[in-house]
Amino acid sequence: MQQLSNDQLLSVAEKFGTPTYVYHAEQINSRYQQLTNAFAQSDVKIFYACKALTNINILKYFKSIGSNIDCSSINEAKLALHAGFEPQQVLYTSNGIAFSEIEEAKNLGIHINIDSISGLEKFGKAFGHSYPVGIRLRPNIMAGGNLKISTGHDKSKFGIPIEQMDEILQLIKQYDLHIKILHIHTGSEIDDVEVFVKGIEVLFEIIPLFQELEVIDLGGGFKVKYAEGDKVTDIELLASKVKSAFDNHPNPNGKPLQIWFEPGKFLVSECGYLITQVNVVKPTPDILFVQINSGFNHLIRPMFYDAYHRIENISNPSGEIKTYTITGNICETDTFATDRDLTEIKESDYLAIFNAGAYGFEMSSNFNSRYKPAEVLIENNDARLIRRRDEWQDLLRGQIDIA
Ligand code: LLP
Repeated sequence: MQQLSNDQLLSVAEKFGTPTYVYHAEQINSRYQQLTNAFAQSDVKIFYACKALTNINILKYFKSIGSNIDCSSINEAKLALHAGFEPQQVLYTSNGIAFSEIEEAKNLGIHINIDSISGLEKFGKAFGHSYPVGIRLRPNIMAGGNLKISTGHDKSKFGIPIEQMDEILQLIKQYDLHIKILHIHTGSEIDDVEVFVKGIEVLFEIIPLFQELEVIDLGGGFKVKYAEGDKVTDIELLASKVKSAFDNHPNPNGKPLQIWFEPGKFLVSECGYLITQVNVVKPTPDILFVQINSGFNHLIRPMFYDAYHRIENISNPSGEIKTYTITGNICETDTFATDRDLTEIKESDYLAIFNAGAYGFEMSSNFNSRYKPAEVLIENNDARLIRRRDEWQDLLRGQIDIA
């Protein structure tokens, strides 16, 4: 997969200023093609989990390459429709939402996965058999890179616990619910293909209970490379395991089942780079700090998940190696990297932070009343601004000055 070169990143910094998120369309496409090629032998549909990155141009790009889209709020669903997706290309996997939002999703005509008994009951009362719907189940499988991003285990708030199957079946009977999707999503950064196989096995036990089932939705969570030597999800192996599992378990209801996936990180993590500039190089007795013009207000993953992000000094790529601790400029501990070996850094150098496409800009904030970064999309070697950097008025937008 072709990454952006040092020179391309530098020229974005010089043209658009910093901090700036840069996304590379061809990298997104190459990931999408890898998935569709790997699963070509099965009836698989890919729904990009847009919670990872929702810039409207990114959504439109996914539409242009043939992807479907998975949403985690009604506003994401509306953004998807705004970007040009057809309702049948939009999936809303909800969690803990008000029933009014489920009704709204139904009125938009999109696919919905409901994740509570109470939501299912309200849906049944309101719509009976008239609107096919999905159920998000909790399979009680521990998976994912860390507890914060692990969603399918037996203490997780997500999904209806599989032990409550009797209640689900009772509601289906009582309200003649039309269940067409069974969904599980066990976590993010799942490097072990067997976790998906385990999930499929849990579902195979209950599939015969769902007479009108059309889809098994296995969620997202594929692990990508953040650090050198990282284990990643072997997509080709996963595809062959999924195929043989489904080949060996034809749907007892007769209808062939379609398989859906909802990857976020896999599609956009590596396509994104956060370019920052060094404000201060600060030697202290113990630690050589570098403070950049960013912080966890722009990229929260290192502080929130202890996530590793590769960093490079793109202004001096072949300088002497020194050991630095990279922090930001906000009034709180905002460490990006501790004791990291990097080529020699001077004030005003540009540092690129890698794997910044997924849950980067999307989780940014205006903490410390700092501006959110700009976003740039590079496609066919053409770099275009797709979000201007915040400006003064953005900080006051929405506030009501009652003085
Ligand atoms: N489907 C559902 C229902 C999800 O909840 C998620 C992610 C995905 C798909 C996509 O997962 P992915 O393929 O991106 O791993 N902010 C965290 C990740 C949280 C993921 C939340 N749900 C991080 O930066 O690591």
